[in-house]
Parts: sequence; structure tokens; C-alpha cells
Amino acid sequence: MKLCEALIADTAELEAAGRLRVLREIVPDSSGFCRYDNRRYLNFSSNDYMGIAADFKLRQEFYAQYSDIGAAELALSSASSRLLTGNTPAYTRLEKKLSVLYNSRAALVFNSGYHANIGILPALSNSKDLILSDKLNHASIIDGMRLADAEFKRFRHLDYEQLEKILAENRAKYSRVFIVTESIFSMDGDAADLCKLVELKQKYDCVLYVDEAHSVGVRGPSGTGIAAELGIADQIDVLIGTFGKAFGSTGAYAITSPELRIYLINHMRPFIFTTGLPPVVLNWSCFVLDSCAKMDSERAKLRRMGIALREIFGASTLPGDSQIVPFLIGDDRDAVAKAKYFLDNGILVFAIRPPTVPPNGARLRFSLSAALPESAITELRRLI
Ligand SMILES: Cc1ncc(COP(=O)(O)O)c(C=O)c1O
Repeated sequence: MKLCEALIADTAELEAAGRLRVLREIVPDSSGFCRYDNRRYLNFSSNDYMGIAADFKLRQEFYAQYSDIGAAELALSSASSRLLTGNTPAYTRLEKKLSVLYNSRAALVFNSGYHANIGILPALSNSKDLILSDKLNHASIIDGMRLADAEFKRFRHLDYEQLEKILAENRAKYSRVFIVTESIFSMDGDAADLCKLVELKQKYDCVLYVDEAHSVGVRGPSGTGIAAELGIADQIDVLIGTFGKAFGSTGAYAITSPELRIYLINHMRPFIFTTGLPPVVLNWSCFVLDSCAKMDSERAKLRRMGIALREIFGASTLPGDSQIVPFLIGDDRDAVAKAKYFLDNGILVFAIRPPTVPPNGARLRFSLSAALPESAITELRRLI
């Protein structure tokens, strides 16, 4: 079969199975709304958990503040990799700010969480090592494990008894063992028991890698995430935060030791072989870290809304207390039909289907934002 024919056949197959992904044009609007197809919707599909990305006033404040500093700080390209001429002063400021937020640990900024997750594990591990990953870890972590020379095994989601059994049976066979988890899981909205993982890391002498993409900004002191909330951030060997979700910016960071930071700068391919972030983005990230630190009432509102929505969904959701609330459906086509029902009623929420979730795990993923009016929850109660 010629390539084009094969591609057409693949598209038809996906469409028949209710799994064809399409790009939609969405215009973010303030107050938790967005515009799509000439209509205004309550937006339950964005990771702008704190409402920062769509906050026009905050953006204006930023431009006013930074245009005084000089045009170079608002440049739209760094035109080079960080190791050449792309390491602008905004990088230094941002990494210093992160370091202060995380108890003077070292910080390294990346272009995205995807870059971080596909680059760090392959840089740190070799064929004598083992990576142990929660079964529901994000695709970027899975891709990182595939790129690494280390062996990897996936343990059942949040099943730390199974994890300990694997450790007890295998630890001695490997030089280093990495335990990898998200803190709030992106599709189920539940959370890892980070204290238990720290205990296992210490008992079996492992490296603990925690991706806090969905908890930075929304949890912890100044929005530093769940490990910081629990007072154990210093015990996490590699803590990943992303700027593209609650912080309403772009990029990602690792909080780690100074030695590991130097090692990554020298060995991590998605760090070395890519153009750095533009100064305007790095400065915006600095600015939103400060803004987000003050948003305790928004963080409390998100918690309240998460609890209320779980109560409405009852047995159709999963246990948890985060801002990600899945509405479980199962069948792909039923999920698409339910998403359309909500769309017809002014609610933008998307069907998440395999392979993003396990087979028969199709769902609507409601992600809450502190920018949503509280009445949005009442509206959902009416529609369920
Ligand atoms: C847990 C997790 N890690 C990493 C990423 C990737 O982050 P980024 O969007 O910055 O590439 C995502 C994105 O959805 C995610 O959910």
C-alpha cells in the first residue's frame, strides 16, 4: 500500500472507532470562559488552573513593568541554544528565583515539561540501572524511559506494595534504581503518597523523580507543589515543575542538587540541542511565580470546587481532592456523545480516549480553574 493510502486507511479506522483527534480553534477569554465556533463556553478543559494565562490585566501589568527595564527583556527569541548565546540574564533571574522558592536547591529551566521528561532519565541512567515507573505516568515520562539505556518496569498505579516487592527482589541486581511518579496524576486527578515514596527511596537507596506538573501553582507554600506542602521537597532528588499549566507560561524546571544540575547541562540532549526560551517568556515566568505565590485564596477556591464536583459526580468519578476531576464513561463513542451534550449546553469539556487513558477508560476530564465562577459548579449539577 502506498504511504498516502495507508494514512487515509488509518484516519478512517480512527474515525470509525471514535478516536480521531482533531485540532479546534479556541480563543481563551477571561473569567474561566473561552470562545469556540463563535460561541462562549465555560472552559473546563484548560490547565490554566489559576486563571493566569487568560488574565489580560496581569499581562498588561507585566508589559508595563518590563518595558521599563529595556527592549532586550521583551525579546521574542533567544536565537541560540543556552550553551551558545541563548543564556540571557532572564534565565539567571528565573533560576535564582526558583532556587529561593525551593530552599536554596539548584534549579535548571527547560523549554517544556516534555523536554525535561524525555531528557533527564536518559541522561542520568545507563544499562546497569533500573527505572520503576507508576503505570499512569505521563507519556513524556514513558518516552524518556524508552530513550534511556536502563531497563524499566511499570508498577500498578499507586500500588506501593508491588513497588516494594519489585525493589526487594531486584534492588541488588542494579547499580542505580530510579523511582518515577507524578504527584497529582494528569488523567485520574489522584495523588501519589510522596511520604511513602521517600521512605522506599531511603530504604532501598534509590533516586526519586517526581513530576509535579499538575501540582505546582495549585498546591504548597507559594504554589511550590505537594512535596513542599508535605515538607519533603528536599528529599526529592529530581522535582519537575512546569510553567505551562497553573503558572500560565511556557517551559519547565528541575529542582535538584548542584552536582546533578551541572551533569544535566553537560549530558541532557533536549537541554543542549535546542534553542533557548525567549527572554519575554522567561521574564513572564518570573513575574507569574511572584503573582502565583500570593494566590492562596484562589488555591483554596480550587480545592473547594474540586470537592464539590466530586460530590456531584459521585460513583462516576475517582477518589481525590485535586482540581482534575474525571467523569468516567468507558466507551469511546459514549464519551464523545457526552462531551457533545455538554458542549450543546455551553460547557467545553473534551472526551479523553485511549491511548491517553487505558482501553475502556474513556472519560471527560474536567479541569477546574480558580477563574471559573462558583456558579459553574451549580450549572454542572443541573446538567448531570
Ligand atoms: C505530568 C506531565 N508532565 C509533563 C507534561 C509536559 O509538559 P509541557 O506541556 O510543559 O511539555 C505534561 C503535559 O501535559 C504532564 O501532564
